[in-house]
Amino acid sequence: MKILKIAALGAVLAAQFTFAQFKQTPLPYAYNALEGSIDAQTMEIHYSKHGAAYAANLNKAIAGTPQEKQTLLQILSETSKLTPAIRNNAGGHYNHELFWTILTPEKNTQPSAKLAKAINETFGSLDAFKEKMSKAGADRFGSGWAWLSVDKNGKLFVSSTPNQDNPLMDIVEEKGTPVLGIDVWEHAYYLKYQNKRADYLSAIWNVLNWKEVSKRYEDALSKK
Ligand SMILES: [Fe+2]
Repeated sequence: MKILKIAALGAVLAAQFTFAQFKQTPLPYAYNALEGSIDAQTMEIHYSKHGAAYAANLNKAIAGTPQEKQTLLQILSETSKLTPAIRNNAGGHYNHELFWTILTPEKNTQPSAKLAKAINETFGSLDAFKEKMSKAGADRFGSGWAWLSVDKNGKLFVSSTPNQDNPLMDIVEEKGTPVLGIDVWEHAYYLKYQNKRADYLSAIWNVLNWKEVSKRYEDALSKK
């Protein structure tokens, strides 16, 4: 009896210490909050199925590896040495966690003065930047992401990566700290926009959370 109790206690302790390392943060708005630009069904499936799967599959992929004890940023910085399952799911988890935060139902958020100045200096104007970003997303063949990032010199740049790669990974050509990422996988828009990716890319600016992008920009600069 005593042995059984010890075994049961061991199982409880083991369960506590094998909990998932990475998990999704709650979506900061309702699934239907972005209606008009991104429909509720797309948001629900995207967050609760696709987003959830990246976190769960990342935990499975790192189980029993040294990455179990690493932060997500450490894992992303050495993806060239890791398995495709870790690369894809670490990227998927990071990218989606960023994506939920840079959308908002709040209307007319604006870039901070500092970010607006940097955008104007780098791209000419906010509209020119939006055009460049939308083009990066539209031109991405197959699935991937369009990014606005800060490079090692503190300069902004636009890039695109395939699949779930991102500018934090050591395998990408254009490295930096992402401050805005737009998901151009079909799962992000197909229910509402079908093959019209450009229409999705144009609508997303209506729900863009410039407060969050500005905060991420200023955080990235402060770490340079
Ligand atoms: Fe996605």
